[in-house]
Amino acid sequence: MTDTILEVRDLRTSFFTENFEVKAVDGVNFSVPKGKTLGVVGESGSGKSITSLSILRLIQNPGKVVGGQVLFKGEDLLEKSEAQMRKIRGNKISMIFQEPMTSLNPVYTVGQQIGEAFQIHEKLNKKESIKRSVRC
Ligand SMILES: Nc1ncnc2c1ncn2[C@@H]1O[C@H](COP(=O)(O)OP(=O)(O)OP(=O)(O)O)[C@@H](O)[C@H]1O
Ligand SMILES: [Mg+2]
Repeated sequence: MTDTILEVRDLRTSFFTENFEVKAVDGVNFSVPKGKTLGVVGESGSGKSITSLSILRLIQNPGKVVGGQVLFKGEDLLEKSEAQMRKIRGNKISMIFQEPMTSLNPVYTVGQQIGEAFQIHEKLNKKESIKRSVRC
């Protein structure tokens, strides 16, 4: 196998109402080689965010990933338990969310909010986690 870190195969995510299904992501395929960057470009509403949220298994009701595979280092994230996903999110895969006004909390500093991931995944205390945030 080549050095592929992420491979998305035929990813499909829909939103359901009582009467119909909105296919927000419908058969997306791409792969990302280790150490490389992939840019996804598309008009507003074309499914970039829903694709990213699907990869991290952050789609909420009435949305659902209805098909495909998300192979991270060869393992399908769609098959993982929620507990396993929690160990991966913010540790192995992170998302920088759109709209800082809603995704960041103005009551906390940016350092505190980045540091939270290090407190959880690397068991650092508050002070150490802020230092670690500045380093990365
Ligand atoms: N909660 C929801 N209920 C129904 N449809 C939704 C919901 N959230 C997203 N969608 C639909 O999913 C589609 C993809 O949206 P998405 O947010 O991924 O677009 P995007 O490419 O990230 O757009 P932008 O460039 O504006 O960020 C859109 O057509 C949107 O209407
Ligand atoms: Mg978006």
